[in-house]
Amino acid sequence: NKKDNESLSDDIVWHNATVTHADRESLKQQKSVVLWFTGLSGSGKSTVANAVESKLLSLGKFSYLLDGDNVRHGLNKDLGFSDQDRIENIRRIGEVAKLFVDSGSIVLTAFISPFISDRQQVRELLQPQQFLEVFIDTPIEVCEQRDPKGLYKKARAGEIKHFTGIDSEYQAPVSPEIHVKTAEFSVEQCAEQIVAQLEQRGYLK
Ligand code: PPS
Repeated sequence: NKKDNESLSDDIVWHNATVTHADRESLKQQKSVVLWFTGLSGSGKSTVANAVESKLLSLGKFSYLLDGDNVRHGLNKDLGFSDQDRIENIRRIGEVAKLFVDSGSIVLTAFISPFISDRQQVRELLQPQQFLEVFIDTPIEVCEQRDPKGLYKKARAGEIKHFTGIDSEYQAPVSPEIHVKTAEFSVEQCAEQIVAQLEQRGYLK
């Protein structure tokens, strides 16, 4: 478990906890995992993630949702939407998600996370079975029509710069573990599809 990071000072030593991840996980009938939602603004990440969390709760599963807007109000309130800031946003969230996984939780994250390499880095922070990429695949035309916060309208008018899908890139997942189409299925159906995947893959024991 020793940390292997060349930028760390030799004076900072990794300390293994007495109570382990396996100990905590064994208290619960579940396997901890990060469900990493990615998709455009307005694609339905938060809505579907909330619906999945409600289903997990009713199944007696312990989970925690990290949500874009909320994390940007606190932990990441110093970050904006330049490429560099988005990269740092996702890096920090990845580290936080890893801590929650260690706590034994099923973690849901709902961030645009537009860059493939950042999502890959989070995947590599975790054990192979602890990261599932959930692509909330909604065409930009549909997102723009929904425009729940009026942000597409502002971006088209040039009032918001670097808006994802308009003047900032979104790199769609190439082979996500879970692929959800919110323009074709209801929120409830999308949430059911995701929970079914968790069951099939043995996360809900
Ligand atoms: S990222 O790209 O992962 O760092 O973004 P994230 O932390 O998920 O934050 C996305 C939400 O911030 C609002 N917002 C913007 N999104 C994209 N581009 C720009 N320029 C921007 N400015 C503000 C927007 O409400 C996003 O929320 P969602 O829920 O995705 O619609």
